[in-house]
Amino acid sequence: MGRLAIIGGSGFKAIRGIEGAVAGASTTPYGPPSAPVSRALLGEHEVLFLPRHGVGHTIPPHRINYRANLWALREAGASHIVGLGAVGGITPAFGPCVLAVPDQLIDYTYGRVQTYHDNDDGEVVHIDFSAPYCASLREDLRRAAESSGVEIVAHAVYGATQGPRLETAAEVRRLERDGCDLVGMTGMPEAALARELGLCYASLAFVVNWAAGKVEGEIQMSEIAANVALCTGRIEQILTALTPSGA
Ligand code: HPA
Repeated sequence: MGRLAIIGGSGFKAIRGIEGAVAGASTTPYGPPSAPVSRALLGEHEVLFLPRHGVGHTIPPHRINYRANLWALREAGASHIVGLGAVGGITPAFGPCVLAVPDQLIDYTYGRVQTYHDNDDGEVVHIDFSAPYCASLREDLRRAAESSGVEIVAHAVYGATQGPRLETAAEVRRLERDGCDLVGMTGMPEAALARELGLCYASLAFVVNWAAGKVEGEIQMSEIAANVALCTGRIEQILTALTPSGA
């Protein structure tokens, strides 16, 4: 039987109840993960935890070793993974502090290693990615939110951008025309690599700002930091109530 792992994004260098015990190797065939996988106690159940940006939040989105992270989690026994992600809100339902479980994504990243299947062994591997997130884990997240009394939007399209800069207003208008509700920088290739490894992966996105051009003026980093802090309690409530079917 597998286990639940949490990949922490901005605002989640650690989760409450962390035991600090290292649960995985410090390197992989793809190099070192952002941090060693550790164990945390969430409510009554133990989960695996990996801070995506490193223990001291030092690794920007385009420099994350996504392959090493997913590999290290699988090696530590993860079967189900919730990727937490701070995002900008594009469409009207996704204002600051809204939580969402995306069901679709569009990948605008570039120059990131997107696959485990890029060696010279002559094997060409394609994966189905029609539904990029694990349906059962999305439903488990929705029910966990419901049972803990936390509002969550159960469908959204996530646009993954390269960063580390935020978007221009015109880029956000294009994302909106494409059908994106949310914009973040770390959702890909994380979701695709999880699928390649056969892991059940879902994203729990939390809106920390209106995307560029959606309100007057510049996006303030202090506003983002304040909204991250506002969201964390509700995210912890959901994760504490989460017991993935099959994990
Ligand atoms: N754009 C991209 N990534 C983000 C944003 C944004 O506006 N906010 C938080 N992560």
